[in-house]
Amino acid sequence: MDPKLGRMASALLVLLLLLEGGMFSSSQPSGLLGEVFQYIDVHQDDFVQTLKEWVAIESNSVQPEPRFRQELFRMMGLAADKLRRLGASVDSVDVGHQQLPDGQTLPIPPIVLAELGNDPKKPTVCFYGHLDVQPARPEDGWLTNPYTLTEVDGKLYGRGATDNKGPVLAWIHAVSAFKALDQDLPVNIKFIIEGMEEAGSVALEELVHREKDRFFSSVEYIVISDNLWISQRKPALTYGTRGNSYFTVEVKCRDQDFHSGTFGGILHEPMADLVALLGSLVDSSGHILIPGIYDHVAPLTEEEKKLYEAIDLDLGEYRNSSQVEKFLFDTKEEVLMHLWRYPSLSIHGIEGAYDEPGMKTVIPGRVIGKFSIRLVPHMNMSVVEKQVVQHLQDVFSRRNSSNKMAVSMTLGLHPWIADINDNQYLAAKRAIRTVFGTDPDMIRDGSTIPIAKIFQEILQKSVMMLPLGAVDDGEHSQNEKINRWNYIEGSKLFAAFFLEMANLHQ
Ligand SMILES: *[C@@H]1O[C@H](CO)[C@@H](O)[C@H](O)[C@H]1NC(C)=O
Ligand SMILES: *[C@@H]1O[C@H](CO)[C@@H](O)[C@H](O)[C@H]1NC(C)=O
Ligand SMILES: *[C@@H]1O[C@H](CO)[C@@H](O)[C@H](O)[C@H]1NC(C)=O
Ligand SMILES: [Zn+2]
Repeated sequence: MDPKLGRMASALLVLLLLLEGGMFSSSQPSGLLGEVFQYIDVHQDDFVQTLKEWVAIESNSVQPEPRFRQELFRMMGLAADKLRRLGASVDSVDVGHQQLPDGQTLPIPPIVLAELGNDPKKPTVCFYGHLDVQPARPEDGWLTNPYTLTEVDGKLYGRGATDNKGPVLAWIHAVSAFKALDQDLPVNIKFIIEGMEEAGSVALEELVHREKDRFFSSVEYIVISDNLWISQRKPALTYGTRGNSYFTVEVKCRDQDFHSGTFGGILHEPMADLVALLGSLVDSSGHILIPGIYDHVAPLTEEEKKLYEAIDLDLGEYRNSSQVEKFLFDTKEEVLMHLWRYPSLSIHGIEGAYDEPGMKTVIPGRVIGKFSIRLVPHMNMSVVEKQVVQHLQDVFSRRNSSNKMAVSMTLGLHPWIADINDNQYLAAKRAIRTVFGTDPDMIRDGSTIPIAKIFQEILQKSVMMLPLGAVDDGEHSQNEKINRWNYIEGSKLFAAFFLEMANLHQ
């Protein structure tokens, strides 16, 4: 093609992409940031190649098999080398062994602590990321090999591409751009990178405690990039996650089951008690019926309401893609608030119930119901536990049943909320405007991501979740991907964020 025509064609393509992207416009900035952006653009194929090398490592932490552990060690070693080559001082901390329920012991991959710069005049930002992945097998329905990063239509398919190898590398690329241009880093940078996130971050909390007054003493801000936008093209900033308290309620007559022909009609049946107990928890409009449960839920402010109105979400499309005919709420705002800022109660299952196809005239002798409550600020977990126990005891005692009931809270994870007027949120918003030409969706996550709360609680530092991936990235699922656009613009976003943090610090 004529080179001039080629240029015109690519200019048109850029224009079309911008139009498709909801008309956000951003222009190449001048000065240092412009040079950094240009460096990232020019080196984008190298960055994709590095991601390819990292995705090729089957760093599965979920299945406790020695061969995967070896891969995890290799992965963490590669990351440590990469950071050393950037000029960081790197510590690969041995965090010991993991005892599995079957008696087997496996080594835990080291947690990498790294730092670049310790200028007291600059703010210190610490990035948390993980390099372990969920399992993936080609036969699970992958269209490409999950461990061979494959680009199709600007989408980079591979296990770990978005969760979380791509974002970790984007942060590294942002740092490397300043280094390659022989520029001072605008902020002091630290890294904490683990290899057990998908397996519950074994050993992380203990290490954070241990390093509180050493590695973390100079850290002022912690950035996590381990979740997704709620849109395909509009960036987001996450400022909260719900907690979770998980309950079991056991109703027991005896250990053995009964025959309904021999005992039906003369027993307080455990299943009937349990169904009544579970049925007393939540009404058909989703309202939780446990007395007092809403007492400590933070009231909705006007400022907060505006955040919800500004969010880009097509409820019809969301219903469609979820294959749900009707949600409990009809507006975007109500749906999001009930996912993010109000508690919810879900009933998950019954152990001991007869759940196979066919007919069997059994009366289960002992059944265990399972439900959980997603917690929001400022619910108090120990208060919630008392309220649940009290409520179930009241309902049960009204039944005059001769069975035994036992309630226990088997898991408790706190909700997390950040101050969106904190410096790093302001810096991230400005950086998003620079790179993407739009304000971010200010979002929360309805699920529980304990890591943010752990950092906040132990270190008492500002924590921010700054995602890079699009809503359809399919983390944990088949055909996980990160868009080349998100990966490269995300690297720019982190670079712009460093400069904005330095500006705000002055
Ligand atoms: C939902 O799906 C139906 C059927 O596929 C389609 O006609 C409709 O336009 C979709 N609605 C939205 C909002 O995407
Ligand atoms: C939660 O409630 C308990 C019992 O009322 C109280 O002792 C505790 O301090 C509360 N915790 C928080 C974080 O408010
Ligand atoms: C339980 O016993 C009380 C007192 O004996 C009685 O008033 C009440 O009706 C009984 N409730 C049920 C559900 O059987
Ligand atoms: Zn992750």
